Amino acid sequence: MSKYSKDVIQMLYEHQSEYISGQYIATQLQISRTAVKKIIDQLKKEGCKIESMNQKGHRLIDLPDKWYSGIVKPLVEEQDCFDHIEVYTSLDSTQLKAKQLLVGNNDSYLILSDEQTKGRGRFNRPWKSSRGKGLWMSLVLRPRVPFSMITTFNLFIALGIKEAIQPFTDEIVTVKWPNDVYINGRKVCGFLTEMVANNDGIEAVICGIGINMNHLSEDFQGELKEKATSIRLSANTKINRYSFLKELIININKRYNQFVSEPFNHIRQEYIDASNIWDKQLKFTENENLYIGKAIDIDKDGFLIIEEENGHRRKLMSADIEL
Ligand code: BTN
Repeated sequence: MSKYSKDVIQMLYEHQSEYISGQYIATQLQISRTAVKKIIDQLKKEGCKIESMNQKGHRLIDLPDKWYSGIVKPLVEEQDCFDHIEVYTSLDSTQLKAKQLLVGNNDSYLILSDEQTKGRGRFNRPWKSSRGKGLWMSLVLRPRVPFSMITTFNLFIALGIKEAIQPFTDEIVTVKWPNDVYINGRKVCGFLTEMVANNDGIEAVICGIGINMNHLSEDFQGELKEKATSIRLSANTKINRYSFLKELIININKRYNQFVSEPFNHIRQEYIDASNIWDKQLKFTENENLYIGKAIDIDKDGFLIIEEENGHRRKLMSADIEL
């Protein structure tokens, strides 16, 4: 791929409502018209819907089904919340890439990949991350907060993700404490949060987010057939990945700023109202201990209070909950 591809797609994106000529692109980038033509042909081959008309030039008629840094960057930079935006076609895992990038600097990152070959979920479970289907992303953030506050980070972020998905569907989007987002009893998003810390405090928080965006039923295998859904399946229409990414970044940024400036207590009731774990018998696994009972509250520090069948109450810091 030419190193100018991202500039060409960025110019087409920024002039979406009009045609721009090959000559104009060539002059701006100081390359030949033949080079521009080659890049445009390559972009079309990759699935970009570009209309080319004699005398008029080229126009991007629809946003592509693939991440292009030339589109992601201007779209995310508008929100002004990351120092670096990294876009890949394929990675082992955005989470592993995040851990490499954060070393030796104090910057924030957004890392996106079209596919992951070694995506991992919580408890190191494999996380299938096919190309063209989901949004696979890791964020490196640098909150200056005490360790004790990090337990509530997930709860703020879960609300941000829920709020980003909600405008795309008429069904109610809910959160499952502490790290999942659901639609209609099925998981649409899972995320995991890891931390790098030293004696002086938190160096970085790495938040890896996986969202089933454009999966069809046949994309889910085995038990996922019953347990997972996608925004597309719920909305009954294909989701424009760039519109969704924009909504996601706006909402995560809003909730992240709230996390660093306000106590969890300010959003506690909102979180409780958004949760889907009430009034049912559930299985909770924490540190390999299994508890059966009901969730009865989330306290001011974000811990989950459960009541076991024998009436015994417990406070859980993090757990895997089977709905
Ligand atoms: C879970 O529900 O178990 C959390 C899933 C987290 C998956 C995301 S996809 C992007 C990032 N990279 C990974 O390897 N995992 C996270």
